[in-house]
Amino acid sequence: MPVVHTKRRRTRFGSPLSWLSQISLPILTIVLLLAFPHVSIQASTLGERSLEELSVQAVESLVSLRDSVKNIDPTDPSSHLSRILIPRPADSDNNTLVRNYIVSTLKALNWEVEEDIFTDDTPYGTKRFTNVIATKDPSASRRVILSAHFDSKYFSSFPQNQFVGATDSAFPCALMLDLAETLDPLLNARKERLEQGLEEDDEVADTTLQLVFFDGEEAFREWTATDSVYGARHLAEKWATTFIAPHTKRHLPTPSASEISTIEHLILLDLLGAPNPFIRSAFLDTAWLFDGLVAAERRLASSGAFAEDGIPNPDIRSFFIPRRAGEGNMNYVEDDHIPFLKRGVSILHVIATPFPRVWHTLSDDASALDLPTMRRWNLIFRVFFAEYLGLRPEVRSSREDRNTHSSRSHEELVRRFIDRRPNTGLTPRLTCVRRLGYG
Ligand SMILES: *[C@@H]1O[C@H](CO)[C@@H](O)[C@H](O)[C@H]1NC(C)=O
Ligand SMILES: [Zn+2]
Repeated sequence: MPVVHTKRRRTRFGSPLSWLSQISLPILTIVLLLAFPHVSIQASTLGERSLEELSVQAVESLVSLRDSVKNIDPTDPSSHLSRILIPRPADSDNNTLVRNYIVSTLKALNWEVEEDIFTDDTPYGTKRFTNVIATKDPSASRRVILSAHFDSKYFSSFPQNQFVGATDSAFPCALMLDLAETLDPLLNARKERLEQGLEEDDEVADTTLQLVFFDGEEAFREWTATDSVYGARHLAEKWATTFIAPHTKRHLPTPSASEISTIEHLILLDLLGAPNPFIRSAFLDTAWLFDGLVAAERRLASSGAFAEDGIPNPDIRSFFIPRRAGEGNMNYVEDDHIPFLKRGVSILHVIATPFPRVWHTLSDDASALDLPTMRRWNLIFRVFFAEYLGLRPEVRSSREDRNTHSSRSHEELVRRFIDRRPNTGLTPRLTCVRRLGYG
């Protein structure tokens, strides 16, 4: 019995405003400002800048720094992904289990972890929610946020209540944990360089990485302004009204900065992990960040990181839809970023549109995920954040190290993936594995 989903959740500005694409950019901007009267410029954050491209060797080093499959392998019961991939609606025991797993993983890395606990009214009465916020360096003056929701959609009856939301958003959460573990030593090295006065750009080096795992993104019943994004609404409100006490360690742009004003950008992941996603740039002011993702993907492709046996594959179909002039701010999908957007936070929304076919059905389980696609996302974000944060992956001299990121051959990895897949009754996506490949 399929569950009926309205598409009301998704407000598409596309068709009614498509005539706008004919008109010049300033008019578009004005229309958007009218749509979001609270939007103001966050003068305290670093704005658009050119990201310093990592060298080919540095990209290779980042690819091999940590196994890019282990944490996101749904066939390994101890992977981060498997630990998250259980039914975990807000205010349930399984939701607490998953939250505790995320918290302990990040505490083990010595990140500062905050659990933001609150209650809110829902169509099923008062429920308890907890966002998880993990910060690499709480003394940094600014942060770039990578976020996703860790709750899964609530269904009242069996078997729908076994929904695990693999793309929505178990995989994005697993990616975030993998990224934290991979970049942690590089962030430590950057801090050391900063303290020793060896950082050329100490502004960039004073931006830390923060992960936010939102609770209660899903509507309990139907997506409305009050039955959705419970965690994001709470956190945006809290940070907008929390002012940072003058602090010797945290040098702030203005004496009375609110927590929310120290967010440089909020990057939100959702509905990722299925093969062949189409990702669009939703907001003009973060189009340069979108371009940064595209560039990271392109460089990884041409370095051979995605391809079989490390053969460069520059013709690979990008996950991203190229931007065209006059575009941007056209398609936006309601999600956890809305409460932040309304308060002027700069947003990069990385979401597959159209949504994966399995959206909000029981089929959004391990069988909906594609390992080469997930690995590619992992690598894209490694490179993107390394460039954004000015990290310097160690460049090894030996040419032989080039392929150490996979001691397993392609065939071996494919076989392993198929053999150990949970028995879903579905045919493995061999074609995709072949087409995209991984080295
Ligand atoms: C909790 O997760 C387990 C899998 O670890 C699952 O079997 C069980 O049905 C879940 N409980 C609920 C109430 O969804
Ligand atoms: Zn959902």
